[in-house]
Amino acid sequence: MTNEDARSAGAGTALLDVRDLRVEFRTRDGVAKAVNGVSYRVAPGQTLAVLGESGSGKSVTAQAVMGILDSPPGRVTGGEVVFQGRDLLTLRKDERRRVRGAKMAMIFQDALSALNPVLSVGAQLGEMFQVHEGMSRKDARGRAVELMERVGIPAARERVGDYPHQFSGGMRQRIMIAMALALGPDLIIADEPTTALDVTVQAQVMDLLAELQRELTMGLILITHDLGVVADVADTIAVMYAGRIVETAPVHQLYRAPAHPYTRGLLDSVPRLDQKGRRLYAIKGMPPSLTAIPPGCPFHPRCPLAQDICRTDPPPLYEAGPGRASACHFWKETLHGAR
Ligand SMILES: Nc1ncnc2c1ncn2[C@@H]1O[C@H](COP(=O)(O)OP(=O)(O)OP(=O)(O)O)[C@@H](O)[C@H]1O
Ligand code: SF4
Ligand SMILES: [Mg+2]
Repeated sequence: MTNEDARSAGAGTALLDVRDLRVEFRTRDGVAKAVNGVSYRVAPGQTLAVLGESGSGKSVTAQAVMGILDSPPGRVTGGEVVFQGRDLLTLRKDERRRVRGAKMAMIFQDALSALNPVLSVGAQLGEMFQVHEGMSRKDARGRAVELMERVGIPAARERVGDYPHQFSGGMRQRIMIAMALALGPDLIIADEPTTALDVTVQAQVMDLLAELQRELTMGLILITHDLGVVADVADTIAVMYAGRIVETAPVHQLYRAPAHPYTRGLLDSVPRLDQKGRRLYAIKGMPPSLTAIPPGCPFHPRCPLAQDICRTDPPPLYEAGPGRASACHFWKETLHGAR
């Protein structure tokens, strides 16, 4: 295994080790099983991309890891979230909040709703330093300007007193990145951070995030629909379906030869992988209702390769090579393109 492979496989010390995580929502239609035994690891300086159709559980998994799950109705029903050696699910609320404030940060799709509309961006950034690092107002403002400069906001010194709505979408997203970076986190979770932006701005914001992540050796979990972005910045991909990881692999291996029919469907539905800004097309049929996940392999009603066993026996996550795994009974045939 080369160094690159080892890094991709998440070998070495994990920053984050999510084990068999389960989340349910109580709804009027019954219990929605949104996350059903998700495991993944992120090493320092590594980027894990999480892909999957709408409703597959990408955001809920991230919210459970961050400790910001909408609860109730959501509830973590099992698993561990081991971050820097401690299971966050066992921490008291105040301890959890401290880890979240200082060590892990989240970037959302919509900066306008994530930022406070009635506070200037300088005040919001400065507040982080005042509250967490006990800085004076003046020093905190100075740090806010530095951070705004670092994320590429022109005329930061003049604009530090402006409000979020006075910035363009791309600039607001940069401000949210600055907020996330303020306390020097070790892990960033970015949930579709560029989806709301137009294509050229998307690329700039993503380049900035990737650059900062490398420079600061942070772990990054990047939730995205954009296969072009993933190929450029991720080390490893986890593909989710119906609240499970169905395939995980180093990024280039997954593109070259997927080991799960669902991944193959996602790749086949995008004609040009090097084309940025393209969203995934839905595969034939619909993802299942999470209150009634089909028995056997949850993908079987949509899978062109389904056999009898798929309708009855849930596939485990088979090891499909170094750093690779696939939850398909026929992963070998899929990998070798025989089926
Ligand atoms: N607040 C909530 N109340 C009830 N059910 C919820 C709630 N949030 C999420 N869910 C359930 O969890 C499922 C997974 O949602 P999640 O937001 O993780 O999907 P996603 O993969 O991030 O999709 P998208 O690509 O659309 O962002 C939803 O389909 C829904 O059934
Ligand atoms: S286990 Fe069967 S239904 Fe599921 S993905 Fe593999 S071939 Fe398709
Ligand atoms: Mg989501």
